[in-house]
Amino acid sequence: MLKGKKIVLGVTGSIAAYKSALLVRLLVKEGAEVQVVMTPAAKEFITPLTMATLSGRPVLCDFFDTNSGNWHSHVELGLWGDAMIIAPATAATLGKMANGVADNLLVTTYLSMKAPVFIAPAMDLDMYSHPSTQRNIDILRGYGNNMIEPASGELASHLCGKGRMEEPENIVARIKDFFFSGRLLTGKKVLITAGPTYEKIDPVRFIGNYSSGKMGFAIAQECASQGADVTLVAGPVSIATPHPSIKRINVESAQQMYNTATEAFPQCDTAILCAAVADYRPSSVAEKKIKRTGEGMTIELEANPDIAASLGKIKRDDQRLVGFALETNDGENNAREKLAKKNLDFIVLNSLTDKGAGFAVDTNKVTIIDKEGETRYPLKSKSEVARDIVKHLSKLLLVLLFILLPVSLDAQELNAVVNLNTSKIQGTNTEVFESLKDALSEFINNRKWTTYNYEDYERVSCNFTFIVDEYSDAGEFSVTLMVQSTRPVYGSSYNSPLFMYEDKVRFNYQSHDRLEFNEDNLDNNLTAVIAFYAYLILGLDMDAMGEMGGSDLLTKAQNIANNAQNLSDTGWRAGSGNSNRFSIIDDYMNGALEPIRQLMYRYHRLGLDTMYKNADAGRKVITETFALLNEAYANRPLAYFTKLFTEYKQDEFVNIYFKKGTSEEKQSVVKILSEINPSLSTSWDKILKDR
Ligand code: CTP
Repeated sequence: MLKGKKIVLGVTGSIAAYKSALLVRLLVKEGAEVQVVMTPAAKEFITPLTMATLSGRPVLCDFFDTNSGNWHSHVELGLWGDAMIIAPATAATLGKMANGVADNLLVTTYLSMKAPVFIAPAMDLDMYSHPSTQRNIDILRGYGNNMIEPASGELASHLCGKGRMEEPENIVARIKDFFFSGRLLTGKKVLITAGPTYEKIDPVRFIGNYSSGKMGFAIAQECASQGADVTLVAGPVSIATPHPSIKRINVESAQQMYNTATEAFPQCDTAILCAAVADYRPSSVAEKKIKRTGEGMTIELEANPDIAASLGKIKRDDQRLVGFALETNDGENNAREKLAKKNLDFIVLNSLTDKGAGFAVDTNKVTIIDKEGETRYPLKSKSEVARDIVKHLSKLLLVLLFILLPVSLDAQELNAVVNLNTSKIQGTNTEVFESLKDALSEFINNRKWTTYNYEDYERVSCNFTFIVDEYSDAGEFSVTLMVQSTRPVYGSSYNSPLFMYEDKVRFNYQSHDRLEFNEDNLDNNLTAVIAFYAYLILGLDMDAMGEMGGSDLLTKAQNIANNAQNLSDTGWRAGSGNSNRFSIIDDYMNGALEPIRQLMYRYHRLGLDTMYKNADAGRKVITETFALLNEAYANRPLAYFTKLFTEYKQDEFVNIYFKKGTSEEKQSVVKILSEINPSLSTSWDKILKDR
């Protein structure tokens, strides 16, 4: 996955330096070229020899090579790297980096680095929480560096708390995430409102609220780190915004915030409205300080404009609007009401009653609510919450890009998670399993299965889980294979199940065998099975994307099934039960799946995708598609997909009709579903009874 990526790994003097050895190994295993740079103190914890051996390159520590007199150019390293990781980063190094104290090769390399920098701090909990460390971290974050926050747990001092360097596997995952998804908001313009507003009563007094602006500023920071140009309209708060891509406009009152935001919004792709805007302002502002009279007094208030609702009214189809709801009671209902009333794409709910959430604290606990449903997140730091929100947003924006700009790049099509479960067998031979798992992942993900051009984000997500039932030292495997795939519903974060299948497969594999696949000459049962499912998944996904798309891929799957009948695995043979791969193809060959093919397209593309924008219209299309399901069933009652479609989508069906739709609609749908799959009557009952 990181093939050809050049990574500079900076190691500093912390006990966690031993973990950098594993980090190098993992990066190299992913195909990256790693150049290790160590501080003098790091050498006390791990030897340069270890790091050089693992990375396959001499380690750099000093400005000069004392033997040859060669100068180690930090400038060249800064240009060479595609990314720099500093792991572990000690408090001292964080301080030097934040303040430009360039007294070792690692810090000079950092200062020369043109590529993104990832920093994984490691230290004792008190050092980590010390304001000076936190200030340095904020500064470094502000410069656009990516912080990989330490985890909580037992530390070298035997104390427990936050300060443990993140595990190498997770660091590699962050790096892969970065390279794989690129920066999430590159080229986007984002408007953010943050902080409180002050509504003047007289020259020295105002009506305000407790908002600290921390959440909004964290979002601005995250958007900027993800490549966006940010316009931050900030109420009166005292937080700095050092990131160069944040343009900050300070305002005081709701009216000023409204004026600035409405002017900026048309030039933006998105607005995220985090500000705690005062709903009312004094009807008149006293010119002079109001004097105490000893009597009670009344201030007359008038309504402020609702910024979110105003932007919701002028929002174009290519723009997205995100709001916040801070509630003390009945949070979800209130948030949903605001979502609809203000025409938001999603709303972030935080509840003042949740411990650690709300004003002034550094943590937050949120639920993201959109028309589809809600996602609850645990208590996290505000910068992590910001990352979740930006991820959610980026999905919506990618969908827009997909609809508006179907540009094509040469990306592979499948994005498969491969699991190999060996818990059923005794005497595990880890090397062969590890090698098989890597080989499978490489084979499925890096092979170009189609001639279509996919963008990275269009890759079809799927899971291949291999449960090893039997294994012999001669390399004979017998596995249960579970294949699953989902399809995103455009415009939402919801993934709809597309494909689910369980199969038994036998094959031979020895450590480091190459997995070969040749369509015309099938001699390997394992790769034939994978190719079969790959084509099936992609074929069905393409079906969902276009009226006739994907048929050529389904034909390929069919050819494999035909050609594979001579392979030793009986699962290929027709008639060996209804649960073998051949039965799927058998259905195809008998024409029973043509209605299912159409159904997939209509159901997903015209039904679910529309539902997101217009729930009633989308649901109507879906109700109509059940007629196709009925037709498929009438033609061939045993067709595998007819039954499976009802099974893997049962929850979805229940959700679609939950408290929605007319009773005739529900009854017609339930009649068909009950006939096809009576065993799922509990679910179908739920549709009728809205439970
Ligand atoms: N908002 C806004 N302008 C306002 C009030 C609110 O832009 N004058 C935005 C907030 O930034 C937030 C969302 O609307 O994103 C919801 O804010 P909230 O104060 O919870 O909503 P109100 O409509 O003011 O409802 P409430 O009666 O609960 O105060």
